[in-house]
Amino acid sequence: MKIVAGNWKMHGDAAMAHALVEAVADQAGRAPGVEVILCPPATLLAQVSTWLIGSAVKLGGQDCHAEAQGAFTGDISAVMLRESGCAYVIVGHSERRQYHRETNEDVRKKSARAIATGLIPIICIGETLSEREAGQAETVVERQLRDSIPDEVAEGRFLLAYEPVWAIGTGKVPTPEDICRMHGHILSVAADRTGLASPGISVLYGGSVKADNAREIMAIQGVSGVLVGGASLKAEEFCKIMASGR
Ligand code: 13P
Repeated sequence: MKIVAGNWKMHGDAAMAHALVEAVADQAGRAPGVEVILCPPATLLAQVSTWLIGSAVKLGGQDCHAEAQGAFTGDISAVMLRESGCAYVIVGHSERRQYHRETNEDVRKKSARAIATGLIPIICIGETLSEREAGQAETVVERQLRDSIPDEVAEGRFLLAYEPVWAIGTGKVPTPEDICRMHGHILSVAADRTGLASPGISVLYGGSVKADNAREIMAIQGVSGVLVGGASLKAEEFCKIMASGR
């Protein structure tokens, strides 16, 4: 089953969220067979969770703290996410790595906390344009994988998301050959790191996924689904992407 996840980032208010969630839940009901995950901002989680009652659509947070609780003003714990109805949490998104200086070690600790709390972390990795141009994409991604994946992972208890930084919000997408090669690389490194067989590891692709390229991307060998940013904010567009996963 393909996975289609929407990362709303810092977008959305209650009115927009309600309309979008209704459309997504309706589409999910009419076209089952795709695991759909919505990751709205933290302030909307509890509300969205009530709107999703009776739907198969799952909820995810966009980040969590590595500690269970404590004096961390402004942060959100994994338990808080779970209590708000989340089954998933994105960790190590490149925007967190860039703007909040999150390291692989931070991402590993957050992922471990998520797993210990019963959440499935969506662990994000991906190279920058300068790293790719320097021929270092595979090395960078390997380092991120080895250092960001916690020891606690088990089959079905984590997702990986390959998001080349230069493809996020730019309309640029790697060629299908490049995606296939990188996902194969990620699967073999992740299998080596975890001791799991690669068919038991899921790797999403993220970066400028739209309604008109989602089907082609999800058909690529090694791609288990997509992590969608901008296009997940438009009901019609996101519903088309969901339909592409069937
Ligand atoms: P875009 O789909 O807007 O390129 O964003 C991708 C992303 O960062 C999802 O996490």
